[in-house]
Amino acid sequence: METITWPQKTRELHNHHFDSTVWNDFIFRDDDIVIATYAKSGTTWLQQIASQLIFNGIEDMEVAEMSPWIDLRVPPKEIKLPAVEQQQHRRFLKTHLPVDALVFSPKAKYIYIGRDGRDVVWSMYNHHANANEHWYHALNDTPGRVGPPIEKPPADIVEYYRDWLDKDGHPFWPFWENVRSWWAIKDLPNVHLIHFAKLKEDMPGEIKKVADFLNIEIDPAKWDAILEHCSFDYMKKHSVKSVPLGGAFWDGGSDTFINKGVNGRWKDILTKEDSERYEKMCIENLGEACANWLNTGEL
Ligand code: A3P
Repeated sequence: METITWPQKTRELHNHHFDSTVWNDFIFRDDDIVIATYAKSGTTWLQQIASQLIFNGIEDMEVAEMSPWIDLRVPPKEIKLPAVEQQQHRRFLKTHLPVDALVFSPKAKYIYIGRDGRDVVWSMYNHHANANEHWYHALNDTPGRVGPPIEKPPADIVEYYRDWLDKDGHPFWPFWENVRSWWAIKDLPNVHLIHFAKLKEDMPGEIKKVADFLNIEIDPAKWDAILEHCSFDYMKKHSVKSVPLGGAFWDGGSDTFINKGVNGRWKDILTKEDSERYEKMCIENLGEACANWLNTGEL
C-alpha cells in the first residue's frame, strides 16, 4: 500500500489579519471540514454550501458565526477555540492560510476554492475601500498585530491592482504561494479543489461533487431549497447571516460584502499590458497546469 506524506507546518504567518498559531491548539475531529481560499474567492459561498448540505437546506442559520475564520487573530484564540470546541454539529471552519502555515490533519476534509487573481483584486478592492473604522481598529489597534498596519486603499483600482501584483498580494498576503501550496496537495484523498467560475457555471453539478466528497447524501426533497439558499440572489438578500459580524465592518453592511458575484469586471478597465503581465506571472509562479486551472477552472 502506498504511504501518504501528509503536509507539515513549516512556519507561522502573522500580519494585521493572521495568527496562524491558533491552529496549533485546535483539536480536530474526524468529520471536520476546512474551507480554504486565498481570500475573496468564494469562501462565504462555500460556507453556505457546506451549511446547506450539513443541515439539509434549512434557513436562517448564523453561518458566519458557526464557521469562524480560525487564523484571523481577532477575537483571540482564548475566545475562538472554546466556541468551536462546544459545537455539536459537523464543523466547517475557514482558513486563508497557505498549506505550509496550517496544521494539516489527515482526519479533516479540505475544500480549496480558487478564482482568477484579477477577479480577486476587484472583489478585494470593494471589501477594502468600503471597510469602516471598526475594521481598521480590529486589524490595526488590537494586541497581537505583527508588521505594519493596513492602510486605506488608493482611489484608483488600477493602482491597487498594480500594487497587489508588484508586491505579491499587498496589502493583504502573498497570492501565488497560497494557490501553489494547495495545488500541490490537490490529489490527497481529503482535498477537493473547486473554482469560482465553475461554481457559477454549474452550481448544481459542483455542489453534488462537494456532497460526494463530504460523504453527505443529498435529500431529493430538499434539493431545490439547497440550490435556492446557495444562489447569489438569496445570499445577497440574507447576507446578514453569512457575512462576518453581520457586515458591521463595512459601509453598506453585509450587502457590500456579497457584492456583484460575477467575474471579469476588470476586462474593460485593465490595459492589455496590465492583464498580460498577470497572465505571464501566473505561469511563472504556478506553472502551466495550475495557471490554466486558475484562469479557467479546468482541471
Ligand atoms: P464580488 O466581490 O466579486 O462580488 P469571499 O467570501 O471569499 O470573501 O468572496 C466574496 C465574493 O464571493 C464576492 O465577490 C461575493 O459577491 C461572491 N459571492 C458570495 N456568494 C456568492 C454566490 N452565491 N454567488 C456568486 N458569488 C457569490
